[in-house]
Amino acid sequence: MRTSRRSATPRRYLMCPPTYFRVSYSINPWMDPGKPVDLALAHTQWEDLRDRYRALGHTVEELPPHPAFPDMVFAANGATVVDGRVLGARFAFAERHGEAAVHAEWYRAHGFRAVREPQNVNEGEGDFVVTASWLLAGRGFRSSPLSHAEAQEYFARPVIGLDLVDPRYYHLDTALCVLDPGSGEPGGRAEVMYYPGAFSAGSRAVLARLFPDALLAGPADAAAFGLNAVSDGRHVLLPQAAVGLFAPLRERGYEPVGMDLTELLKGGGSVKCVTGELRSG
Ligand code: ARG
Repeated sequence: MRTSRRSATPRRYLMCPPTYFRVSYSINPWMDPGKPVDLALAHTQWEDLRDRYRALGHTVEELPPHPAFPDMVFAANGATVVDGRVLGARFAFAERHGEAAVHAEWYRAHGFRAVREPQNVNEGEGDFVVTASWLLAGRGFRSSPLSHAEAQEYFARPVIGLDLVDPRYYHLDTALCVLDPGSGEPGGRAEVMYYPGAFSAGSRAVLARLFPDALLAGPADAAAFGLNAVSDGRHVLLPQAAVGLFAPLRERGYEPVGMDLTELLKGGGSVKCVTGELRSG
């Protein structure tokens, strides 16, 4: 058992309040427009997460919500930011198309000089997951495989394409979480946790080769959105219902922080989906 204390590094996050959140259409298996959403509770849960990040010493920027886009609370989908460079999103479904421009505008207004409007469909950090060495990139439900080459060229980081095969885990960030991005040096390997059942056999083999020490989640923790987590290198904020992940995280020296985001789960997202990360150069 590894007992070493992990160290957190301060992060800068982007979140969008759930002011206009509702489930009025269904674009993933979790969304049931017949099920009521408690908007006041969604707000409280979202604020708890934002305040928790701040209490841990992180910066949280707030993206103003837009009444036309009920899914805007899932701020991770609007762009990918690596080394201060922004690759905008291009959403798969018409209901979310307009969010991309709102995000791109925010970045331009907040001092990001390199902002690319993408040619291919990509749903931001929903499908791009960043380590110090690579971009892990999901495909199969939302982001186009063509977006992988586009991201590799733009960020100058090798992209590892991963095939998602279970519609409940339609974005890579619902099935895999970076606990520690690694150093980018040989031997400074990233540490991840993931749910093998979300991936094709070939992609499972790729993950096993890249991350032989990964924490593997079972189906119950995956269904509780336990992989839709955010780590600062030490604290791992994840849905509190993913009870099976707490002990293995502690055993690896992380501090799991259980969050309650049940109202947002009705939209098919949790901790990571509502948190974009602004990675500076
Ligand atoms: N309702 C949203 C959609 O289906 C949820 C997005 C969740 N975000 C995420 N990063 N997985 O597009």
